Amino acid sequence: MTDPTIAQKAPYPVEVEAGKTYFWCACGRSQKQPFCDGSHAGTDFAPVKYTAEADRKVFFCGCKMSGKTPVCDGTHSKL
Ligand code: FES
Ligand code: FES
Repeated sequence: MTDPTIAQKAPYPVEVEAGKTYFWCACGRSQKQPFCDGSHAGTDFAPVKYTAEADRKVFFCGCKMSGKTPVCDGTHSKL
């Protein structure tokens, strides 16, 4: 597996809605960050499903290197 493309070295804050499902871009190629737009086609990557349990702000990983994908775990600060 090759490394993902770093979309940005910072998380994307998103207000999610309870019960709604989101597909986080793992490959970093999407033009609709932090979510998948299908650009991973032909790579080894696949989007990661995230279902919101509550209305709240989520910090989705933008560097694609988080150990807790799809959310940021601070790894971006070491890149
Ligand atoms: Fe990146 Fe789909 S576009 S996982
Ligand atoms: Fe990827 Fe923070 S943006 S770990």
